[in-house]
Parts: sequence; structure tokens; C-alpha cells
Amino acid sequence: MQTIYWDLKNNERDKFMDQAALCIKDGQVVAFPTETVYGLGADGLNGAAVAKIFAAKGRPADNPLILHIADKKEFDRLAVDLSANARALIDTFMPGPLTLIVKKSSLIPDEVTTGLPTVGIRMPSHPVAAELIRRSGCPIAAPSANLSGKPSPTNAHDVAEDMDGRIAGILDGGRCGIGVESTIVDTTTPIPTILRPGGVTREMLEHRLGAVDIDPALYGVQAVRPKAPGMKYRHYAPKAPMYLYEGPAAAAQLIKAVHAAMQAGHRVGVLCDQVTAAQLPENANRCVIASWGLSKDDLAEHLYNLLRAFDHQEPEFILGLGVDEHGLGLATMNRMRKAAGFNILWATEDGVSVKSGTNFPGNMVK
Ligand code: TXA
Ligand code: MG
Repeated sequence: MQTIYWDLKNNERDKFMDQAALCIKDGQVVAFPTETVYGLGADGLNGAAVAKIFAAKGRPADNPLILHIADKKEFDRLAVDLSANARALIDTFMPGPLTLIVKKSSLIPDEVTTGLPTVGIRMPSHPVAAELIRRSGCPIAAPSANLSGKPSPTNAHDVAEDMDGRIAGILDGGRCGIGVESTIVDTTTPIPTILRPGGVTREMLEHRLGAVDIDPALYGVQAVRPKAPGMKYRHYAPKAPMYLYEGPAAAAQLIKAVHAAMQAGHRVGVLCDQVTAAQLPENANRCVIASWGLSKDDLAEHLYNLLRAFDHQEPEFILGLGVDEHGLGLATMNRMRKAAGFNILWATEDGVSVKSGTNFPGNMVK
């Protein structure tokens, strides 16, 4: 399949949006930008079109898709029995980086929900996403636009890397602002539960609703099965194994470990903030540095792109620097821990111990 590339900086924007919407109406798959990550969209009420998304991504058949809408009124025909909590979240945070799990109406084909009685619905705030949904005249089913198992794409180039030749077209609307996927909240439980942390933070949800639960599976507890089926897969992972430093002396111990690894002849990747990066040895051959700037917003925005870049630079392993879990930190730490396969070190001034995981190379733990 020849994938059409629509660059929206071009002055033919209107024509391009029209062509993309026609593809959706015609049952084809189109990638488009949202404020979180790029999505891989198809007509959410057309089962055969939705099946093409699974084929393009290589997505496991038991992992449901979420529906994207451009008008809050859509909840009336796509969902049933909306809870008061759901209504409060719709009023407060939509449009925005939030997906609500609600009971589905009979309109929604099983291909979207993989047979579940519930569906995820989200109203993106990105103008291109909203316009595509409106012009297509249907809710758009869309997962992130990566091949299954790879980090989500946050720019059209990363989408093309995974999807060229597999889908009808890619709408290039530039870089995504937030950079990690939407917060998923299950509103069918008496106390709403965060199934995946994202741009609408735990603190924002608690402020609006009072109590909010967090799916314990997010912390990598092996015995607990995540309530969002997609959260159980190894995900967000670069090819090289990754080890994450957390704790009060994370940066200092990470710097020490980088020196030791280089001295032992390794080519080591480092994922850290700019301040830490400035303290690392300059040796592009031995030390591949990916730094995200200073703030947690910077980290969220650049994380997936930096993880993808490691796949081109091929370090033997990657040492990552953890951040605290306030605000966007909960979402980024969830992605970093998964990228590290929950190989996590706890660093204090006295030394480094294992928080979780097993396969630590060399003398990383002392
Ligand atoms: O920001 C986002 O949410 C992006 C953009 C494109 O909108 N989309 C996205 O979709 O991240 P996806 O498919 O990559 O992740 C959706 C997650 C999966 O983990 C899936 O298992 C979960 O939502 N999910 C979907 N329907 C569900 C349901 N009925 N109950 C529980 N989890 C559900
Ligand atoms: Mg995804």
C-alpha cells in the first residue's frame, strides 16, 4: 500500500484534511496528531475498518481500542448509565488528555471493545484531531500509531518509521505537546480508578472527585492483572535493556555507574535531565546521552522520542534517571519503569540496592 503523506504546514491544508476524512469514511486507516501522541484512526462504528487497525499495528486481539469524539453529546449515544463521577470529569477535563471507561451502548462494534461490556471514550483537544473527527462524521477508533510493543510516536516521522506502507495516510500536524498517552479512568467502579496515568494528573482528579484509586498493577506487582488490557504488554521499550535509578542519590549513583561501565569498555546509554547530562563524560562513542531538558513537562514531551533514538544509536544497555511521582511524574515514571522492565535500583549516598528486577549487569549493585 502506498501511504499518502499530508503535511499540514502546506497551504493545501483544507484539501488534505478533506482527503484524510474521505479515507476514514471509506473504511481506511489514517494516522493523525493528538495533544498526547499520534493515533491510528478508523471509523469507530465500522467493524471491518477497525479490524484494519489491528492488522497495521500487529495488535493483540484482546486489546480494545478507545473512541475519539469531537462533541460531548456523543456520550449520549455511545455510552449508557454514565455515573455522576463520569459526568463531572467530562465537564471539567474534556476536551483534553483523559479517557473514560464507561458502559458501552449497542452501537459500538465488538471489534472496538474486543467483546468487553465497557468502552474507552476520549475527546482530544488537538485541533487537527477534532477537525478530522468532525469532517469524518463518526467517532474515530484509535490506538497510538506505533507498531505494537514500540514507544508511541510523538511526531509524524516516528509514525512513518512504523506505519509506512501499512496505512492509507499520515496527517503531519507537527509534534505532540504532552508526549505521553491520555490518563485512563474507569468510571464504572464506585471509586473511580486510574488504569493508566497521563496528562490529567492524579492530583487534578482528586481535586475534582475526592478519592481516586490507582490500579495496583501499575506498580509492576506481578500477581495483579492490569484492568486496562494493553497495560500488561511489554511496552514503551527500547531494544537495549534499561535500568532505572530511583531514590535520594539517583543522579550521583547513576553518574558513578556510567564511569564504571565506560572504564569496563561498555557503550552505555544514559537517559537523564540536562543538569545530570552536563556532569557526564564527553565520549560519544562510549556514552550515548539522551537528555530531556529540565522539567517533568520536558520529560513527558521527549521521552518516547529519546527511547526510540536509542534504537538507532545501539548502546549495550541504558541507565535511566527516575523523577518523583507528583504531577506528570506519575505518568512518566509508569512509562520509564515499563521501558526498564521494572529493573529498578534504589540509590542513596551509601550505595545502590535492588528495588525490583533481577538481571543487573556487572557490579551495578553494591
Ligand atoms: O492518548 C491516548 O489515549 C492515545 C491517543 C491516540 O488518543 N491513544 C492510546 O490508545 O493510547 P492505546 O490503544 O494505545 O491505549 C489504550 C489503552 C489500552 O491499554 C487498552 O487496553 C485500554 O486503553 N482500554 C481500551 N478500552 C478499555 C476498556 N474498555 N477497559 C479497560 N481498558 C481499556
Ligand atoms: Mg498504545
